[in-house]
Amino acid sequence: MTHLFEEIEAARQAITARSTLQPATGLILGSGLGELADAIENATVIPYSAIPYFPTSTVHGHRGELVLGLLAGHPVVVMRGRFHFYEGYTPAQTTFPVRVMRALGAGTLIVTNAAGGLRADWQVGDLMLITDHINIPGMAGYHPLRGANDERLGPRFPAMTNAYDVALGERLRAIAPSVGITLREGVYTQLAGPSFETRAELRLLQRWGSDAVGMSTASEVTVAAHAGMRVLGISMISNIATPDAPPANHAEVLAAGEAVKERFGQLLLKLLADMDSSTH
Ligand code: HPA
Repeated sequence: MTHLFEEIEAARQAITARSTLQPATGLILGSGLGELADAIENATVIPYSAIPYFPTSTVHGHRGELVLGLLAGHPVVVMRGRFHFYEGYTPAQTTFPVRVMRALGAGTLIVTNAAGGLRADWQVGDLMLITDHINIPGMAGYHPLRGANDERLGPRFPAMTNAYDVALGERLRAIAPSVGITLREGVYTQLAGPSFETRAELRLLQRWGSDAVGMSTASEVTVAAHAGMRVLGISMISNIATPDAPPANHAEVLAAGEAVKERFGQLLLKLLADMDSSTH
């Protein structure tokens, strides 16, 4: 059996054999938001199937390729399509690409997703700065850091109180009005999925102080924080998930991405344009 450190190294080598770009930032594009990858200049596109130990994406709306190149002049490694616990992968597997991004040199992770909005006064297409998260599978034991800890990757007991970088959040707040976005902000809760929530579950999440709900992200951010990365998270509110709203469905989640992708792209490009491009 190989160990996580060696698996990361094998994946890193397979990627650097195809691209010499040193990414400063890793970007995970969520459901319906993958098209931003088309704006990458000097792109090297690597199917997940060509990278050792990478899982492969099985969900419609998630393409399954890693793209390295420049976005707004900033060197990035982009996941076009991510992995989810509900696909059958362990939390350690779903977060393996974050490890690889870090090994490639990325000191910052920008993570995006489609999420249900738990606030009745929010609208489909709203963008929410993630200020904090609740990792329900993690709390229940499906935690990406469960098992032996390799100190080369991060500490045994990493703090999560500052998992979301305050300065990056500030910058996003400052940029949003200039691209016509009224930025929401709040707490993202990760559930296991794949079923959407019952009304009672939605009420519970609201009472727990959650503003958006989805099936990804918190585990990825946990691993990024473990690895010492700065994290910025953005949720695209793809449906209103209040107890009296109509039932959620996947087609609606993807359609919301279509409607918002332009503004969302502008926001991210503007953010990346003035980010420090050095790797750490
Ligand atoms: N619930 C859970 N995950 C989601 C939702 C939702 O309403 N919308 C997009 N991802």
